Amino acid sequence: QEAAAPAASAAAPSAPPPAAAAKVYVVGTDAAYAPFESQNEKGEIVGFDIDVVSAVAKKAGIEVKFVNTPWEGIFNNLAQGDRDLLVSAITITDERKQTMDFSAPYFDAQQLIAVKADSKIAKFDDLKKLKVGVQTGTTGDEVVSKLIGKTSTAVKRFESTPLALKELESGGVDAVVADNGVVIHYVANNTGAQFKTVADASFTPEQYGLAVKKGNAELLEKINKGLADIKADGTYDKIYTQYFGA
Ligand code: ARG
Repeated sequence: QEAAAPAASAAAPSAPPPAAAAKVYVVGTDAAYAPFESQNEKGEIVGFDIDVVSAVAKKAGIEVKFVNTPWEGIFNNLAQGDRDLLVSAITITDERKQTMDFSAPYFDAQQLIAVKADSKIAKFDDLKKLKVGVQTGTTGDEVVSKLIGKTSTAVKRFESTPLALKELESGGVDAVVADNGVVIHYVANNTGAQFKTVADASFTPEQYGLAVKKGNAELLEKINKGLADIKADGTYDKIYTQYFGA
């Protein structure tokens, strides 16, 4: 009597499937936002956000490629599938949650006011009758539009935050409102500009998240898992300290 073929051999795959080229996830970032994302002299995209996503991708076992993407169209690029993931110091807001899905928060932020060193501006309310520069469509734009009026010509909108800060230097605006990390970095690295910062308790806390196309649960799960892993094993803290100190 013949023994039945062992089950293991019957279940063994006949041949491995042909190696498919690994998917490269395209990550959009508006690389004019140091220290979160910027371009170095070689044109490479570098920064805190880049290091975080690179570490997350490594943990998640996925390949990523960063593509400099203007802020103005960045959410559309995601919705249309031109970008798989966005990392751009993006504040998680209820409004944005309608059109994209966010990872767990990875960074705490807040608005901060930049003014000339000799300015008398002491609080956010002082900006009411002044010209204020913001990056179009940012949370800074939102708070300033609320204070001064969305259609007021006193709100000067720029396609990047550095452009708004340049305008402060040349006197075209009286103040710039933007994320604290970026304002602090700019003031520290452009000593010739003679700026100072003004904090205000009325600004609400913000949190940055990585964004995927609405419904892309597969990628979001990988990202969240990777984020949790780099937070748990000290990689996140190491990157944080490297950019923002202990
Ligand atoms: N956190 C702000 C926002 O989400 C500003 C982000 C701007 N980011 C950039 N890379 N330009 O609206």
